[in-house]
Amino acid sequence: MPRIPEDILQRIRDATDIVDLISEHVQLVKKGRNYSGLCPFHDEKTPSFSVDPDRQFYHCFGCGAGGNVFKFIQEIDRVTFVEAVKFLAERTGIMLPQNAGPSREEDAAADELYRANDLAQKYFHHLLLNDDAGATARTYLQTRGLTGETIARFGLGYAPPQWDALIKVAGRRGLSPQILERAGLALPRSTGSGHYDRFRDRVAFPIANLSDRTIAFGARALQPDQEPKYLNSPETPIYHKGRVLYGLSDTRDAIRRQDAALVVEGYMDLISLAQAGIQHVVATSGTALTEDHCRLLARYARQVVLLFDGDAAGSTAAMRACEAFLGTGLDTRVVSLPSEHDPDTFVQAHGSDALLKRAENAQSVLDFYLKQLAQQHDLSNVEGKARAVERLKPLLAKPRDAVRRDLLLREVAERLSVDEQSLRHDLQASLRRPQRPRMESAEPSPTATPDPPRHELEFVGLLLNFSQFIPQTVRQLAPDSLSDARTQTLCRTIFDRHAHSKAIDLGMIISELEDDALARLAAQCAAQDFDEEQVERQWRDYLLYFQKNALQKRIANARQALATASDDGEIVRISAELVALNQERQAVAAQQSS
Ligand code: CTP
Ligand code: MN
Repeated sequence: MPRIPEDILQRIRDATDIVDLISEHVQLVKKGRNYSGLCPFHDEKTPSFSVDPDRQFYHCFGCGAGGNVFKFIQEIDRVTFVEAVKFLAERTGIMLPQNAGPSREEDAAADELYRANDLAQKYFHHLLLNDDAGATARTYLQTRGLTGETIARFGLGYAPPQWDALIKVAGRRGLSPQILERAGLALPRSTGSGHYDRFRDRVAFPIANLSDRTIAFGARALQPDQEPKYLNSPETPIYHKGRVLYGLSDTRDAIRRQDAALVVEGYMDLISLAQAGIQHVVATSGTALTEDHCRLLARYARQVVLLFDGDAAGSTAAMRACEAFLGTGLDTRVVSLPSEHDPDTFVQAHGSDALLKRAENAQSVLDFYLKQLAQQHDLSNVEGKARAVERLKPLLAKPRDAVRRDLLLREVAERLSVDEQSLRHDLQASLRRPQRPRMESAEPSPTATPDPPRHELEFVGLLLNFSQFIPQTVRQLAPDSLSDARTQTLCRTIFDRHAHSKAIDLGMIISELEDDALARLAAQCAAQDFDEEQVERQWRDYLLYFQKNALQKRIANARQALATASDDGEIVRISAELVALNQERQAVAAQQSS
């Protein structure tokens, strides 16, 4: 959790007007005590998003999103908690302590790497636009159909042919060759002394992170015989290939609006589509798609359309990508382009409408997979089917939740006309092998787990809204007297804060909860309305109800223990316990009826 002290979080929160903040993103209308509007986190026509200025939190009754100002910034800007705190700290002018977030040394080191990449981007861009050295590259990009506007939008550049052009420019700005090396922009000479520029005589595609800072480059050769065609930055402390999607910093708003992303492979594919007016695109740019990539995308959209090259390599990459995407529960579909095209050449040849039409008619992952497999195996005979099933197994194991896994399995069985039960057994056998431990941990599926009982949600909500009842509750009720693990955790969190004399503040509780679903549940609990005049009676009713339930559970356990006990001493002890428990229960019941 953040190293930012709680009192500073409080101050930032108090200094931020949640209605003002959210109004920058949502048109709010006052409704009684609260404000309401169209939820920015899901698509809706009638407002179910509500902001409570007194309690300083927001809640959507439609999608369950909710939280305080930090959570709102986290969600709307897709940043980490610490980044959200930093943003609001700046907005309110509150100073954060130096040790918040990464250490000062780490910050300083990363800062140099950002500066180096930023300088390289500006330098290369300048050469491409204004310098004689960039003339060939300018012509090249023109022949590829890119406009000046597009070149500016994506900050494209030209890395000159000299061995030390960037090193010299950077040196004049206090950035040593060693820093350039760490930033992936220079390499040490094999003779042992000195450095040389990594990118030479190439078109440079800057890669940005979500704060829009250049963190790496992909650089394309200008001549067809120049190898490799693309040269890329290595991994550095600020660039992790498996977590960065090319173009996302530019296209994420469009992706959010469309609730869909087109995924292409190449820098040129993305740029070409964007220029043609198709904005909701990201590119994987030379690395296999990771589950991190998919999770990143899942924060912006629920639908993904894979648009890979029509050739064999493209199909294989698309199959791998499907597996990664299925694991995230995103609605994934695949477009097969004619084999002579990639998305760039297709859109240049046929236009954006033709491409969008193909995206609309994209096939399901399973259709795509089966079509690929049908090209490799004869699915009309047993042998071929068996091979295809083997190839489909990784896919079948992917969906996170049991319901989707089951649906996929049934469909495969039907489509290949194999017996569903044997396929299921077959799959379970291969999953039980130790190399796939993740599948065995029965993760609770979001679709299959019902909500906690209503009265438990109400009880947690009551404690969150009327903290005066907490001290008595702590004394009289163990959190595991509730039946649901989630409401138990929320209860425990509240009790913990009380024990540490921390304020019972929904926002703080939400930021403290690691689990998003739990945080939502907390917001959902707190958003309930209570009748202040009734609340004390309500609290007492709930308390007694849970106490009685807990006692009943203990009585049942004791009875069972008694039935199996053999030792006389133990029988006496359990009997005495049973008597005591029953007396307690009667006492509770008497209070209940009074
Ligand atoms: N790539 C790479 N290294 C290579 C070849 C390709 O990193 N030697 C990556 C690049 O990110 C490239 C993507 O894979 O954008 C797709 O490769 P390819 O289809 O060959 O290139 P295009 O993007 O289509 O580039 P162009 O249209 O300029 O040929
Ligand atoms: Mn291409």
